[in-house]
Amino acid sequence: MSQEKLKKEIRRLAQERNALILAHNYQRDEIQEIADITGDSLALSMEAAQTDKDMIVFCGVHFMAESAAILAPNKKVLLPRLDAGCPMADMVTAEGLRDFKRRHPKATVVTYVNSTAATKAETDICCTSANALRVVRSLPTDEIIFAPDRNLGRYVASHCPEKTFHFWEGFCPTHDNLRADAVLKAKAEHPDAPFVAHPECLPEILELADHICSTSGMYEYVATHPSKKFIIGTEMGILYRMRKENPDKEFILANPEVLICPNMKLINLEDLLEALQTLAPVVTVPEDIRQRAKLSLDRMLAVPRD
Ligand code: 13P
Ligand code: SF4
Repeated sequence: MSQEKLKKEIRRLAQERNALILAHNYQRDEIQEIADITGDSLALSMEAAQTDKDMIVFCGVHFMAESAAILAPNKKVLLPRLDAGCPMADMVTAEGLRDFKRRHPKATVVTYVNSTAATKAETDICCTSANALRVVRSLPTDEIIFAPDRNLGRYVASHCPEKTFHFWEGFCPTHDNLRADAVLKAKAEHPDAPFVAHPECLPEILELADHICSTSGMYEYVATHPSKKFIIGTEMGILYRMRKENPDKEFILANPEVLICPNMKLINLEDLLEALQTLAPVVTVPEDIRQRAKLSLDRMLAVPRD
């Protein structure tokens, strides 16, 4: 089937099934193009929680579909490729976190949403890259366990010197592979372009950044900043919407060889169509885990915005 026919059939079937198609900002261009809503991991889960559609097709990775299933228990949540995982989310287990908590019994556990439902169930409060600092500052405790992203954790800690942090040493292989030499080369080639980095990058990269923010924050920054050129330090999928929304601006990926997440590129149009045809694979979370995981997400959502 041609790409155009595939897209038409996906739209027709999504309507027939009364399905909402969500796509993360790192998905393939054609998936972002056909989705009802694109966004960061938190925004998409919140859309899932609010929708009045019968089902959700989540084009992202497994932990995101789980978050949707946690927040929208009465909806069917489909993940077109069940093998689309997140290596960082899998770097911490519920058992490992329980053991870590035993070693730091007074610490409040803050877990990045890039984690499994079972890990969230062991968590006091979740955070995203967009609200991590706000979440940690909202806590009355001065001792924090931060999991699983050591880079996001250290970034937050650098802004909260009054608190003691215990970091889980997980990382995103895609962002962690971006090195200073590549960024310095891009900066030398484009000296007038601000460098925007995701907090999943190494501390040495964040030191070179003009601005540090989540994927949703990046869209806002490049749209409102007067510069006509930007060096981007996050996964390449973000370029699709940046270029579409800012046709007069130029976006340079800090290192195109490493800034690609293979898991985020798994779902293609054929997979999406098949999920709508077969109503599979479905992502579910056992009810006892779901309820405890939901508490940690609800606490995060209750933190007031600035
Ligand atoms: P955000 O879109 O929430 O910034 O997350 C980045 C990421 O790595 C998702 O997998
Ligand atoms: Fe996980 Fe990194 Fe891929 Fe996001 S970009 S899904 S954090 S491996």
